[in-house]
Amino acid sequence: GGWDQWVRRAGRVGVRSVAKDSVKEEGLETCTIGQWDSDEPVTRQELLKGIAGAHGLYCMLTDKIDEEILQAAGPNLKIISTLSVGFDHLSLDEIKKRGIRVGYTPDVLTAATAELTVALLLATSRRLMEAVEEVKNGGWSAWKPLWLCGFGLQESTVGIVGLGRIGLAIAERLKPFGVKRFLYTGRQPRPEPAAKVQAEYVPLNTLASQSDFIILSCSFTPDTQGMCNKDFFAKMKKTAILINSSRGAVVNQEDLYQALTTGQIAAAGMDVTVPEPLPTNHPLLSLKNCVVLPHIGSATYATRNAMSVLAANNLLAGLKGEPMPSELKM
Ligand code: NDP
Ligand code: DGY
Repeated sequence: GGWDQWVRRAGRVGVRSVAKDSVKEEGLETCTIGQWDSDEPVTRQELLKGIAGAHGLYCMLTDKIDEEILQAAGPNLKIISTLSVGFDHLSLDEIKKRGIRVGYTPDVLTAATAELTVALLLATSRRLMEAVEEVKNGGWSAWKPLWLCGFGLQESTVGIVGLGRIGLAIAERLKPFGVKRFLYTGRQPRPEPAAKVQAEYVPLNTLASQSDFIILSCSFTPDTQGMCNKDFFAKMKKTAILINSSRGAVVNQEDLYQALTTGQIAAAGMDVTVPEPLPTNHPLLSLKNCVVLPHIGSATYATRNAMSVLAANNLLAGLKGEPMPSELKM
């Protein structure tokens, strides 16, 4: 990768770009774009170099935007547009202090992320990865009564940690599978979304002890960091399954490994981990009852396209001093 600069009319800019020297003239708005010309994340060093003097930044969740980056950008920087709904990679205190506005991509990725979470839940609970492996490696000797049995959703209790946009969309998709009860937790009851799926608000401990499936769809904050630790796993049913499509650090992975290897919980499916990528020799990857995906929640062509357009429009609106289509309230 490398930086490549060119001029475009505002409104026709590409992705992953640092907008510089935004010019506003009558009837013509242009900005110079410095674009990282690779699908691989920009290196920290290149970002520090490329951001100097920029008015706007279009970034990914792989770019940690902290005080050092903001200093390197300098006082021109007024807009940050991230190609994600999660904003835990942005140091909001530092950003706010400088009066910088932030755009993000809620809603457009909700359906895709909920769909992937359901797919991960089914892959984990019905042991699809193990099953496919057995077909390929000759382990499939015959149909056998208890071979590769798992856990079904029918008549189950599903606990949702974070009944936000994605949490609700997951519950709505799971309901037709015959789920008996939905429990949810969060900082406070959310009667409106809860009513749509008849979900009951309970404390985290109750959710942990009563759920057959626990789905993490909360945002990553100091409060949710390490929320699923050994105390949490100790409260879970031995037959319960944990699914994480929020952020890896909501789960204490060492404690998860213990819980999975000692039979404290049945299985786990993780779309997000710490670190990302998870090293190929990580202990969790050696477990049959742990399915790990490479953070593909929003990865459909249509969704990534919608996210890209929304993030570009957020950036452009911000540069023009207009309301953004999706601005983060800070
Ligand atoms: P929302 O803001 O709509 O939902 C976030 C939820 O987190 C809210 O329901 C909130 O509940 C809950 N929450 C916040 N703090 C706590 C807490 N201390 N305990 C329990 N729940 C809490 O965001 P989205 O649904 O749009 O996205 C959620 C997250 O999903 C994103 O922040 C991102 O990290 C992740 N994500 C992952 C993707 C992937 O590829 N795997 C794709 C897209 C998003 P309340 O306010 O009631 O406390
Ligand atoms: C997000 O948007 O926060 C996801 O993690 C990737 O789409």
